[in-house]
Amino acid sequence: MDLTQDFTLLLTLSVSCLIFYLSLKKLWCHDNLPPGPTPLPLLGNVLKIGRGDIVNSLMKLSEKYGNVFTIYLGSRPVVVVTGYKYVKEIYIDNGDDYLNRGEMPAWKPFYKNYGIVFTTNIERWKDLRRFSVSCLRDFGVGKRSIEVRIQEESCCLVEELKKTQESFIDPHQCISRAVCNIIFSIMFGTRHEYEDKDIDTVVSCIYDSFVIVSSAWGQVYEMFPGLMGFIPGRHQEISHLLSKLNQYVDNRVQINLKTLDPNNPRDYVDAFLIKMEKEKSNSQSEFNMKNLLASTLQIFFAGVETTGTTLAYSLLILLKYPDVIAKVYEEIDHVIGRNRSPTIQDKNYMPYTEAMIHEMQRFTDLLPMGVPRKTVKEVKLKGYTIPKDTTIFPMLTSVLKDPTCFKYPTEFNPENFLNEKGEFQKNNAFMPLAAGKRTCLGESLVRMELFLILTTILQNFNLKSPVPVEELDITPNVSGLGNFPKPFKIAFIPR
Ligand code: HEM
Repeated sequence: MDLTQDFTLLLTLSVSCLIFYLSLKKLWCHDNLPPGPTPLPLLGNVLKIGRGDIVNSLMKLSEKYGNVFTIYLGSRPVVVVTGYKYVKEIYIDNGDDYLNRGEMPAWKPFYKNYGIVFTTNIERWKDLRRFSVSCLRDFGVGKRSIEVRIQEESCCLVEELKKTQESFIDPHQCISRAVCNIIFSIMFGTRHEYEDKDIDTVVSCIYDSFVIVSSAWGQVYEMFPGLMGFIPGRHQEISHLLSKLNQYVDNRVQINLKTLDPNNPRDYVDAFLIKMEKEKSNSQSEFNMKNLLASTLQIFFAGVETTGTTLAYSLLILLKYPDVIAKVYEEIDHVIGRNRSPTIQDKNYMPYTEAMIHEMQRFTDLLPMGVPRKTVKEVKLKGYTIPKDTTIFPMLTSVLKDPTCFKYPTEFNPENFLNEKGEFQKNNAFMPLAAGKRTCLGESLVRMELFLILTTILQNFNLKSPVPVEELDITPNVSGLGNFPKPFKIAFIPR
């Protein structure tokens, strides 16, 4: 090797070291952020959290770094918040400071920052949220009219389950169709038969995209959205699935548009179209076609799979706990009987069932990392200064399983919501739908759906497992943005 070669090698090495040092410095320059595992340049903390098990990895890191720490998804810092005390600070105590939605790269190229759930434009969110809350109320959510609608759909579901003639089936599809129909009626004023092709497409696309985003592929995509765009894998299906859903919503909106009577809005889409017309001379208005399509699709998305999976997962867990289901049957027979549909009023006389449904939501822990939030200004949290626009993961799992808040944090036990007298007992750490001003928009709908659908199923059927109860595995199959059960089958035996 001559002197020139030696010099070139030395120069290359020095430049590489300099680039490496500068990128490390860039990563570590957020010196006010809470401490966390040391990130690698460009890769961030992929070695600690990139193995497809992000929820458990983050909970492990919190044992080492405490309730508030920083991780790097690629080069993007995210502050992870665990435990009731600090998550409550994000949602409620200082809720206004954390109202914005955090970055979610998997959805971003598709929604392009429109729509109520995923927009990171706080003013846009405020307008769409205010409108959607009052619109859902106008179309019956939280009132007697939606109760009747859920009762009717529950009866359709029972008929559908009877058709299976006691064979072993995966209940998820049927249940999600029932839930989808309830949201359809609010958004488009109609429902579909269970064998209809459209409802099949909608339910399957929502389920598949939710599972992919939650899977290992989705988790890596969240860390390296730019790079993963060029790499083949399941994450590539997300935008195809969302396009199909968008096409469906677009067609439905066109139907509403053609049949619209401005004096007689029939559903959410009509109300949005009327608002668009009223504000058409305001170029700054958020009531435009892009926000209509995105909000409608996002409300669907947020409402169908979450409730459908919670209900299906609940049936699996009830199979595993025959003593719990026996007590629920006893209450149903005593309070409702077999000859009429359950009503929301019945809940007041069914403390065990009410406790069981709360425990289902706590234990299934459907969105373990919450949905990311973002700081709207520089904030102080646990003594650290966190800059404006920092993404926050409020770890709902850490609250729902906080040992300082629940008697049996890791096991399924309705006693978590009962006092010594057997009465239902509220718990402030029960926040599977988040809390505060940006809590789940469907909160009152979810409460009604879970109670009415679950009690109607149990009023009509005994559940039978194809395998011995001890062999039933109730741990999640996929755990990321969402917790999904392993595939399972149940036979519905008429009572
Ligand atoms: C068991 C069922 C459900 C669960 C576990 C659930 C959970 C959640 C959670 C954790 C959030 C994030 C709140 C935040 O921190 O920003 C959320 C938001 C949301 N949910 Fe639900 N949800 C459920 C059902 C529904 C239903 C039935 C609807 C339909 C109306 C719905 C509509 C929404 C919407 C629109 C948002 C976004 C709210 C906003 O950004 O202002 N959800 N949900």
